[in-house]
Amino acid sequence: MEQRQLGKRTVGAIGLGGMPMSIEGRPDEARSIATIHAALDAGVTLIDTADAYHQHPGEAGHNEALIARALVSYPHHKSEVLVASKAGHVRPGDGTWAINGDPAYLKQAAKATAQRLGRDSIGLHQFHRPDPRVPYADSVGAFAELLDEGVIEMAGVSNANVEQIREAHDVLGGRLTSVQNQFSPAFVSSYDELELCGELGVAFIPWSPLGGIGKAGDVGTRFLPFQHVADARGISAQQVVLAWELGLGDHVIPIPGASRPSSILDSAGASEITLTDDEMEQLRPTLDA
Ligand SMILES: NC(=O)c1ccc[n+]([C@@H]2O[C@H](COP(=O)([O-])OP(=O)(O)OC[C@H]3O[C@@H](n4cnc5c(N)ncnc54)[C@H](OP(=O)(O)O)[C@@H]3O)[C@@H](O)[C@H]2O)c1
Repeated sequence: MEQRQLGKRTVGAIGLGGMPMSIEGRPDEARSIATIHAALDAGVTLIDTADAYHQHPGEAGHNEALIARALVSYPHHKSEVLVASKAGHVRPGDGTWAINGDPAYLKQAAKATAQRLGRDSIGLHQFHRPDPRVPYADSVGAFAELLDEGVIEMAGVSNANVEQIREAHDVLGGRLTSVQNQFSPAFVSSYDELELCGELGVAFIPWSPLGGIGKAGDVGTRFLPFQHVADARGISAQQVVLAWELGLGDHVIPIPGASRPSSILDSAGASEITLTDDEMEQLRPTLDA
């Protein structure tokens, strides 16, 4: 698999998003473990998770613990795998997503995540979403302290706009490693943030890179230019979408979610596909939609 730089780590250009394996509609554990192992077999070395990826009350960290178990039972290159988690979202158990950007809460949540992952420190930890009740600098400041204390090795932010990315970069003293924002043919409005990350030397991690759970299957019918390129090459429209995202910059690392091995195997194949200038030009109008 093509490799990309994520701060001080090198990871496969396509990561695995863990959310579909832990929220509503999740599969049984055996299928989830098979999905994670299939990703690792395909050369995936970045797995994205969050303490809020769970369904029921009282099971915060369901996805983190699942990934930890999958790595324990994987016999090969697991020391190369970077597990990236997040804190700042909570799920009360009624199907909603609430926010908590309180610095003391974020620090305590990070320590619980490290414990669930069975690690002394978290490889990459991301502030999940700005909390309008808490100054952004205070929430991100908790991540600066976690870096200083060695609880986390690298810090990222998620769902951040251009101003917030610049602020996070300052608060972290230039140690912002990544920005994880929604980005796909169905959601291009974070292209400014993607470009800013390129300028700052920060990785950009598109979330829901195929358009999201329940919508990824028909990305080709909803965005026909991707289907046309896919048909011409004899590959899936999903691979074209991911290859297009990779083609937007060397700092872009998509994390397609999966709950079955076949999905991540197809997605991982996108890292071997380099779209031509002509193909990128055909897809360019997507950014103006
Ligand atoms: N930071 C945030 O606020 C935030 C928000 C949302 C998501 N995320 C992260 O981003 C990750 C990805 O987003 P997402 O899971 O919401 O959406 P997504 O990656 O756009 O779509 C996920 C769905 O796509 C299907 N899929 C994957 N590869 C496929 C392929 N090659 N062909 C056909 N279908 C394919 C999977 O189906 P199967 O389930 O059937 O395998 C999966 O359910 C999440 O898992 C999570 O880690 C972060």
